[in-house]
Amino acid sequence: MLSRRAFLKSTSAAAFAAGTAHPLLTWAADSALSVPGKDGLIVRSYRFLDLETPVEFMTEWITPANHFFVRNHMFEPPKLNTATWKLTITGEVDKPLTFTFADLEKVPVHSVVTVLECAGNGRSLLDPKVPGIQWGKGAVGNAKFSGPSLKALLEKAGVKDTAKHVQFRGLDQVPGKVPPFIRSIPIEKALDADTLVATRMNGAPLPAHHGYPARAITPGWVGAASCKWLTEIAVLDKPAEGNFMSPGYRFPNTPGKPGEPIKPEDTHSLTALTVKSTIAAPSDGAKLKPGSHTIQGVAWAGEADITKVEISTDGGSSWNAAQLGKDKAKYAWRLWSYPWKPLRRGDYVILSRATDSQGRVQPDAAIWNPSGYLYNAHDQVKVYVA
Ligand code: MTE
Repeated sequence: MLSRRAFLKSTSAAAFAAGTAHPLLTWAADSALSVPGKDGLIVRSYRFLDLETPVEFMTEWITPANHFFVRNHMFEPPKLNTATWKLTITGEVDKPLTFTFADLEKVPVHSVVTVLECAGNGRSLLDPKVPGIQWGKGAVGNAKFSGPSLKALLEKAGVKDTAKHVQFRGLDQVPGKVPPFIRSIPIEKALDADTLVATRMNGAPLPAHHGYPARAITPGWVGAASCKWLTEIAVLDKPAEGNFMSPGYRFPNTPGKPGEPIKPEDTHSLTALTVKSTIAAPSDGAKLKPGSHTIQGVAWAGEADITKVEISTDGGSSWNAAQLGKDKAKYAWRLWSYPWKPLRRGDYVILSRATDSQGRVQPDAAIWNPSGYLYNAHDQVKVYVA
């Protein structure tokens, strides 16, 4: 008889090759399983594919596609065909338009290196716990996305003065009573030259898991603003409605008491990411040899720039500046490193904290909220020097 793990391994490749999850896999969340095109990621859900990047992979400025996290609210569409795929622009425009993939390729290409982070990244670290995918620290990556700017496409359709929001719809397969994944962004962000209809990721066509053949990229904002498998752009005279605008993806206007519910009218829709750093090395729980070590990781701040990353090797009593990496771009993460030579054997608590150009400092505790969004407490690893 097949073991559970062997059974899952034998069925998962076929299920994902067909672009759909096997119904028997709906209960499985086993990090030992492999997903074609993805290497060494942590499986948080198979029913709707949710894959997390181990923090140990966060040592490169550009996250390769095979290491990039995946967040799906529903089933991915079967692999789409660029010969038949279409993108429409409707709503508050002078001239509704339909683009084929070939039409998109005629529009000048703009590239943006941006962090894409799921609003729920770090949710599992909140206390008290909240429901939802229990992401650790790796629902985040940094990639170069390329394609026409959304502005160029909207200008072809002619945006009316009544336009307030731009709504995206993807081609996900929506099961049963699940509401479709529809969100909108304000017209100002939609008309920012860096907001894209991306067709490429890190110089290659978008992989299927990341929205092939085209996705919205709303740089610096929570990942939910970057709709995959894009098929419709609707210009609206007000924000979109539906579950993913409210009650989904909203944050308290003022922090409440941990564990207490927040009234919907006391929340706002999530937009830009906050300031944050993550330690990639050493790993939490590592046993280190005495001698020289490098503490390293990444830091990002949504639409702001990282100005400083500080490291503490004594649990927060003292802090020293890390060296920031040379690669930088608006919206991208910054690598950082800190040479460390522990002076004694024993246990150490290593912390990292980032500061950004808006003066925001990564706090020692995140703002608790019932959906577990925007977790950004100081990062921490515990190591033992033997
Ligand atoms: N777009 C569609 N169509 N369906 C989705 O479920 N998930 C969103 C966003 N775009 C989603 C989507 C969320 S919550 C995130 S965090 C990002 O995609 C993740 O992008 P990735 O899977 O390419 O890493």
